[in-house]
Amino acid sequence: MGYGLKKLSLALSTVVIAYLLMYSGTKFDPADVQDKKVLITGASSGIGEQMAYHFAKMGANLVLTARREHRLKEVVERCKKLSPKPTANHAYIVADMRELDKTKNVITYSVDSLKGLDILVLNHARISVSNMWFGSQQNLTDMAMEMDINFRSYVQLASHALPHLLKSKGRIAFVSSTAEKVPVPGMAVYTASKHAIQGFFGVLRQEMVMRNTGVSVTSCIVGGTRTENVMELFKQKFGEEKLKGLNFADPTAVALEIVKATVARQYEVFTSSDKWSSILMFLGKISPEFADQVTLKVLFE
Ligand SMILES: *[C@@H]1O[C@H](CO)[C@@H](O)[C@H](O)[C@H]1NC(C)=O
Repeated sequence: MGYGLKKLSLALSTVVIAYLLMYSGTKFDPADVQDKKVLITGASSGIGEQMAYHFAKMGANLVLTARREHRLKEVVERCKKLSPKPTANHAYIVADMRELDKTKNVITYSVDSLKGLDILVLNHARISVSNMWFGSQQNLTDMAMEMDINFRSYVQLASHALPHLLKSKGRIAFVSSTAEKVPVPGMAVYTASKHAIQGFFGVLRQEMVMRNTGVSVTSCIVGGTRTENVMELFKQKFGEEKLKGLNFADPTAVALEIVKATVARQYEVFTSSDKWSSILMFLGKISPEFADQVTLKVLFE
């Protein structure tokens, strides 16, 4: 074996061992979910809706929030049917995360309704995929709004929830995206917002450890997933034919992966994803420049 090869295999085994050590301690036990007080944002459809069903089935108490009341009502009804506990609490509060001053109401309502808070799942997002950045006034105005929804509301919700999570030694999960790892044209602000939450919650996680709070923070890196919203957006962007070739993941499976990782207090989870996001993320670790070139080739040619 040449010297370079030896070094490479040593590096690889170190990575594998470190990975195994990191994840050997994280075991998911569904019993841990029983009677937990959970708030999920963006819960009227997609991955958030599916997370609500998983949590409900495992006996959690829930508050769901989103913009569309009629959808929230339906999801809450279904949670009640799925719950093994006749006394479980399932409620919703309508909120538009553009209105940052409403984030406090959402937390106050949740804590009142659930009598505390154990798990905060930050999942809502505005996704825009098909507009390039030209630096127009419109772009700047939209950017401010999108950062409010995708970033600042996350910080506000976590901040208002923090005193309650400190009491319960609770858990925070935030949904990030493979977009954070691989730059895709047409997604500048969405991508920036995912970097922003990753940065913010990465530091918050460190501070939680440093202060010995027992509060865990789980980053959930979600790739192409077959939710209504995303399918509609990507159909417009790439066309039906290309979309089929991308092999998007099932939202129910993705939601379960997030629930398990959060409950197990995992550091991060890469959920099942479309084929190309997985490949590009892997390439991105080796050579981001090459991954960028491949992105343009596979998605836009
Ligand atoms: C930026 O503004 C231009 C012109 O107003 C528009 O065509 C484009 O779609 C906008 N891009 C984004 C990301 O909104």
